[in-house]
Amino acid sequence: MDDLRDKYIGLIADAADEAALEALRVQALGKKGEVSLKMRELGKMSPEERQVMGPRLNALKDEINSALAARKAALADAALEERLRGEWLDVTLPARPRRTGTIHPVSQVTEEVTAIFADMGFSVAEGPQIESDWHNFDALNIPGHHPARAEMDTFYTHRAEGDNRPPHVLRTHTSPVQIRSMEMAGAPLRVICPGRVYRADYDQTHTPMFHQVEGLAIDRDISMANLKWCLEEFVKAFFEVDDVELRFRASHFPFTEPSAEVDIRCSWEGGTLKVGEGDDWLEILGSGMVHPKVLMAGNIDPAAWQGFAFGLGIDRIAMLKYGIPDLRAFFDSDLRWLRHYGFSALDVPTLHGGLSR
Ligand code: DAH
Repeated sequence: MDDLRDKYIGLIADAADEAALEALRVQALGKKGEVSLKMRELGKMSPEERQVMGPRLNALKDEINSALAARKAALADAALEERLRGEWLDVTLPARPRRTGTIHPVSQVTEEVTAIFADMGFSVAEGPQIESDWHNFDALNIPGHHPARAEMDTFYTHRAEGDNRPPHVLRTHTSPVQIRSMEMAGAPLRVICPGRVYRADYDQTHTPMFHQVEGLAIDRDISMANLKWCLEEFVKAFFEVDDVELRFRASHFPFTEPSAEVDIRCSWEGGTLKVGEGDDWLEILGSGMVHPKVLMAGNIDPAAWQGFAFGLGIDRIAMLKYGIPDLRAFFDSDLRWLRHYGFSALDVPTLHGGLSR
């Protein structure tokens, strides 16, 4: 009986899988199994012998059964371990970068501009794209007869027959968000307002919808010097150069007085733009000191407060920075173009991590 026991305990311990275990069970405890046959022999024994052998055989049967169960459990554990190892997944890994989706240059540049001005204490404001005629024009010191209204190729909405209120417009610039920000937050104020704007125009550098970012800083004692510093910091950070020279050219905008258009020193050697060196000048934005009438339209007292404002084209600076030749392609939704000019969704522009990589 000890031989039987050793034999089966050994075989069970070596069994490689459940099928082998089942075969062993049949071989030992099945109808014609070795242990079962021994059980049958009990009938031929004397009562004394039976009293000894009966319990021993039963104990052997139990021992084999529990060895089978233990081995079965061990095999199942090992199988689970194996499977867990095979299916192991590091959930802390980032998603795979750069499959098909990319960040559009306009979104990228908007994020870059936002990161730079956020660092200077500007918050982001937004306004409606379907804007009241008043916010888009009158409040910005562009009265009804002003030629700027015609120059801007404005899209107007329809009013019902007999409704004589001025129609709403698709905003022609982000400047109306200046008014809305002043109305909402009052002074002091430091906001940038990125967003879509609309003008009926279409060629290599104009599309009916494009993007601008407006800047507005209002405080008790703000001057053109502050404007100049902010814009210098912005241009250096945006074009990722150590130094840059800005040129302020006297200009005219109804909503600023004085007004200046700002150019940056650059070169176009071999068709590629280099910012900060060379003999060319590149116009990048319009700016000035906020006109007192504009402050009043925003319910801010021009005797106590003053501010500077600027507006620049996001698409335009995206084209310049990333060497994109045709503005119209921005809005064609051509996947090949997006793969070429798009950015990885995982490289979020920050000043510490780098704006573009
Ligand atoms: N709104 C002007 C445009 O669309 C851009 C602009 C110029 C905005 C001067 C300003 C500014 O805030 O001060 O052409």
